[in-house]
Amino acid sequence: MLATLTLVIAPSLAATDLEIVGYCRSYVVRVLVITGAGVSAESGIPTFRGKDGYWRNLDPIKLATAEAFARDPELVWKWYRERRQHIHNVQPNAGHEAIARLAQRAGEFLLVTQNVDDLHERAGMAKTEMVQIHGDIFLTKCSHCDFSYAGRGGSPEPPDASAVEPESGRLGSIAPTSESDGNLPRCPECNSLLRPGVVWFGEPLPARETQRVENYLQRDSCGVVIVAGTTATFGYIIDWALRASRRGGQLIEVNPEETPLSRFATRLVREPAAVALPRIVDQLIN
Ligand code: OAD
Repeated sequence: MLATLTLVIAPSLAATDLEIVGYCRSYVVRVLVITGAGVSAESGIPTFRGKDGYWRNLDPIKLATAEAFARDPELVWKWYRERRQHIHNVQPNAGHEAIARLAQRAGEFLLVTQNVDDLHERAGMAKTEMVQIHGDIFLTKCSHCDFSYAGRGGSPEPPDASAVEPESGRLGSIAPTSESDGNLPRCPECNSLLRPGVVWFGEPLPARETQRVENYLQRDSCGVVIVAGTTATFGYIIDWALRASRRGGQLIEVNPEETPLSRFATRLVREPAAVALPRIVDQLIN
């Protein structure tokens, strides 16, 4: 079943901060971590919602939908190029590093991140233990066919002729094709416009990535589930967290603010992720 990027309306819920106490070491065997924009906030990347969030001043309908791209691809590319550049210039923080450390110590581990940045990876997370469920901002893919191109480890620009790997020669035709294209890249297979490899509003989640989450959840439940830095706006985030912790696993929420998930958490940590996660991970692995 394909999940789509649709909003879930949740009631406003009261919650109490709970102390982290009495941790049982065996819980660390199987771990699911779910992250959102708040985890990258202390690296200097704005969140989407909240007072300094992107969606406070920018209209997602003009920037993060297939319709917006069809209407004004230059504007959309401009926004994503600026974000690529910004992400390229910042560093992972202690929260990203703590998650990577936990991954190394857990028996089984999966990170599901809604973040399209590469900070988890740069902090040491293996791609095999990580699902970028909303895509990868450094991936460039065709707006029409299956062609895609993985970015150059932080390149601020979409690929162009200079990105051609000599042995493949495949990307030679990605250069702009006419004056009116500006510097918009085109697909070497079908000549359609290339676009950022992220999930836009109204689009289905990537089937392969969704399946990886499902496989992990179906294999067994988790002793520890950490949900950090997300408003949990999307129903599938709550669903995955609850299913993973269904057999009595701890559900730890790290977020300075209340979310629709808070009422289900066994532990609420109302602190920034870069402060709380290193401590929580130390507690879990020591
Ligand atoms: P949001 O911007 O909706 O939420 C960020 C969350 O992080 C909020 O709940 C904040 O309270 C929390 N937060 C802020 N600073 C924090 C910090 N230092 N430490 C921990 N938490 C902090 O971001 P997401 O929930 O990730 O989709 O948004 C989900 C999706 O909506 C995004 O992936 C994006 C957006 O539209 C796509 O781009 C497809």
